[in-house]
Amino acid sequence: MENSKPVNVAELRRMREAGDKIACLTCYDASFALVEDRAGVDVVLIGDSLGMVLHGGKTTTPVTLDDIVYHSRCVAPHLSRAFLMADLPFLSYATLERALDASQRVMQEGGAKMVKLEGGREQASIVEYLAVRGVPVCAHLGLQPQFIHKMGAFRVQGREDAAAEAMLHDARVLVEAGADLLLLECIPAELGKRIAAESSVPVIGIGAGADVDGQILVLHDILNISPTVTLGRTPRFVKNYMTDGADIERAIGNYVAEVKSGAYPAPEHCFAGA
Ligand code: KIV
Repeated sequence: MENSKPVNVAELRRMREAGDKIACLTCYDASFALVEDRAGVDVVLIGDSLGMVLHGGKTTTPVTLDDIVYHSRCVAPHLSRAFLMADLPFLSYATLERALDASQRVMQEGGAKMVKLEGGREQASIVEYLAVRGVPVCAHLGLQPQFIHKMGAFRVQGREDAAAEAMLHDARVLVEAGADLLLLECIPAELGKRIAAESSVPVIGIGAGADVDGQILVLHDILNISPTVTLGRTPRFVKNYMTDGADIERAIGNYVAEVKSGAYPAPEHCFAGA
């Protein structure tokens, strides 16, 4: 990598200010950690998507804190530049104390440098509790897979005006509470653009359009081997980067290059409003 200084929260803010797109990707083991780091991925996420792509589950609900800590420990020692973020799994942040204990484990035992949690303004007190204690937090808005059993299905969020306004408000409240990063999943591109324009922290999207500060995808999706892809339920925002050959490092490098140039996401990867 040209710029091989380790990425941190300040660098992510600098990238946003400079208009340099942030390329993020999930990762769960040492081999891919080395490849992703070499390919220039800026932020590596230990996603609770591991429950689906590694364990073969239908949801992320069964993923435990031990799972996240275990996979963080597999990945962390092998990143020399990329910034490591880890998901707090289902219910591990249901109270202030649990959130603090879970964050302590993923950071101290797992080596993560930021935690990610799902939810809107109702999580503000948790975000603040963690942030003032030195835990960098990414707040995940839009489609929140940990709420699947309340939602019933994975679908685009924020299409109606009232829902879009509520999400904008959630984003403001979470940033005021101390979130260092926002992640928007499966929302209309126009709403992603509005949230990113208003936000004072970097905004990463997955199915949130092109006008955000960076993109994230699930590793197994871009390699075209995840159960979702294999079983024919590929989400609109997924792009197969294995089409030009069989070299995984090149595929990941091409993903990074397309995020940086803005070639990904193309209109066919984005959702329209109502
Ligand atoms: O668990 C996950 O992989 C995620 C996505 C945003 C990529 O949260």
